[in-house]
Amino acid sequence: MIDDITAARDAAMRQLAATDSLDDLVRLDQDTLGKRGSLSLLKARLGALGTAEEKKQAGQQLNAAQREVGAAVAERRQHLGAAERDARIAAERLDLTEHVNAPRRGHAHIVTQAWERLEDVFVGLGFTVAEGPEVETDWHNFEALNMPLSHPARNEFDTLFVDHRGAPPGTTVLRTHTSPVQIRAMLAGPPPLYVVAPGRVFRRDTPDATHMPVFHQIEGLVVDRDINLGHLAGTIEAFTVAFFGEGFTSRLRPSYFPFTEPSGEFDIHTPAGEWLELGGCGMVHPNVLRAGGVDPEVWSGFAFGFGIDRMAREHHLVEDLREMFTGDIRFAEQF
Ligand code: PHE
Repeated sequence: MIDDITAARDAAMRQLAATDSLDDLVRLDQDTLGKRGSLSLLKARLGALGTAEEKKQAGQQLNAAQREVGAAVAERRQHLGAAERDARIAAERLDLTEHVNAPRRGHAHIVTQAWERLEDVFVGLGFTVAEGPEVETDWHNFEALNMPLSHPARNEFDTLFVDHRGAPPGTTVLRTHTSPVQIRAMLAGPPPLYVVAPGRVFRRDTPDATHMPVFHQIEGLVVDRDINLGHLAGTIEAFTVAFFGEGFTSRLRPSYFPFTEPSGEFDIHTPAGEWLELGGCGMVHPNVLRAGGVDPEVWSGFAFGFGIDRMAREHHLVEDLREMFTGDIRFAEQF
């Protein structure tokens, strides 16, 4: 009996030394000390021993063997637990210094690139850059631009309205164009004014290859003495050459906007012989000058506005405008 106990203990200790996972350890624990484990089963045989002395000796031996194996299992469990934790930490290791030697440089989004180049070109032509809010009052976005509530042209701007605390419903909008910055620029300072205002605009539109509900425009406004349509055409032409390069020309076509009179659309002519529609323009309507606190008897001006996203799209030959706004790095990295 004593030999069997020693043999069972030694076998358990040997196996224990060879276990290298917590799962194996749990199994070994059960096979040795569990209800039907090798040492536990020996206990049942104690009763069959001859003398009380023999029982006592074997019993003590067995208890000692169980304690020994139990302690060894606990020690092994601690060791294996630490090892597994170390392995997990090593596997999850994130080397934050990995890119220190070879940084992957990003670059501005193609709309931002176009936006900044447009600013550069207009600053080069003597304009300053102005800004206005994206959440705008109905008055700045429509009313002051000669579009009173009843004006049918309002329907063409698929307007998104904003619930604004304290303001009556329907009087706060996400600006549908950058033209409200014309009003803000005039109210901010007396003429002469030569400003451009790039910015984000919003319309209730379903996204498709050529439309997005959120897009970007750049507005231009000139107010000075004796400004006439020739100045507008000349500015558009100078801009076209400066931005697109030699070989590009521009043309104006008659059109209609409530805030300009006369109004036009302007197109650019590519060296490949194509006409691209770029935006709207015209001589600032007297009502608009008045809304901006400018006396139309003394001052006159012109304004234009066009889409920046479309220009970036044309420039980079992107087929689908939506591609530009998915944030997919594989797309963005190409430019
Ligand atoms: N705001 C007009 C639009 O979004 C463009 C425009 C600006 C037209 C300035 C005339 C003058 O369509």
